[in-house]
Amino acid sequence: MPKAKPMARQPREPAKIIRLRRQLLEWYARSRRDLPWRRNPDPYSIWVSEIMLQQTRVAVVVERYQTFLARFPTLDSLEQASEQDVLALWSGLGYYRRARMLHKAAKLVVHQLEGSLPTNAEALRTLPGIGAYTAAAIASIAHGEVVAVVDGNVERVLCRLEGWAAGGRAGETALKHKIEDLAAQLVDPAHPGDFNQALMELGATVCLPRNPMCLVCPVAAGCKTQGEHKTTPRPRMQSREVAHALCVRRGRRPNRSGREVLLEQRAASLTVMPGLWELPTLKHTAVPAKELIMTVRHAIMQVNYYVRIRTVQEDEVETMTIAAGERRWVPLNEAVVMALTGLARKVLTRARLLAATPRAAIAPKPGSDVL
Ligand code: ADE
Repeated sequence: MPKAKPMARQPREPAKIIRLRRQLLEWYARSRRDLPWRRNPDPYSIWVSEIMLQQTRVAVVVERYQTFLARFPTLDSLEQASEQDVLALWSGLGYYRRARMLHKAAKLVVHQLEGSLPTNAEALRTLPGIGAYTAAAIASIAHGEVVAVVDGNVERVLCRLEGWAAGGRAGETALKHKIEDLAAQLVDPAHPGDFNQALMELGATVCLPRNPMCLVCPVAAGCKTQGEHKTTPRPRMQSREVAHALCVRRGRRPNRSGREVLLEQRAASLTVMPGLWELPTLKHTAVPAKELIMTVRHAIMQVNYYVRIRTVQEDEVETMTIAAGERRWVPLNEAVVMALTGLARKVLTRARLLAATPRAAIAPKPGSDVL
């Protein structure tokens, strides 16, 4: 007798799927966080929120999302903005490529698609910066398309439900396919947007990477892990040392009071944060203790930067710093609305040169009297 062919996918029992959907949706209705983008189902707003939520924690996104939408409430307003204005609103969120792609996509939609954002996942994926996950999130949440979202949180929840351990290097792709396959079977055809958000929400608030809260999990009874599952260890963070100069002088321009800070624009050709404004880099990372005004730890992707900051007088700038881009003395009330790197904003805020909560100040156009 010929051997039976192995089945490509393992259909789950419909009753089990129906129960899981109900448990998740009921839990989501009771427990969902009151997030600003959940009050506004307009596709453009959902798009902005999903781009911000890639690689950034919800708590950080909440505040920044509101400021961004206050300044760019519509796709047309975003399309008309300059890239520097868009980057300024993104300042500190990191992964600036997301902001550039969002802006580029807004231009493409206005000029090539008559201003209408595509309404299905397949078409959304053709836009700059929108991959499978973001396309599925926008299409299911804003348009009710029955398509599964698979992000890191969803992967973890589904692995634990099924008792799947990390596949190791060789098994990673196979595991990913199994997860995508399962997610596609589970997504609720009647409420795909809420179902997808419920799974992501469960991963973000209950089924945590460390110490998951199984006692309050709505699907614990059917979970084959009931705790942490085996995962591939994350690459260790590297550390690097750098040093920057804080150069501040009294304002020179007529009719302007207050102080100015020396900023340098990163070259457009750089792969990391091109075009953003930062503090000049010191030639020597070793700063004598008596000159040191602060040390800041700043994480960018897999690198922890330990950054020493010292004040440098205007006449010392040339000898002490590396000139790597265009430099400008900028009044502090203009600096606050510029596309600063997250590190520059952090240092200027800690030095009390920028307001401690600059986000609200970012919304007005440059030139407004913020400080
Ligand atoms: N992570 C990314 N998008 C999300 C959403 N819409 N709800 C919850 N967590 C998310």
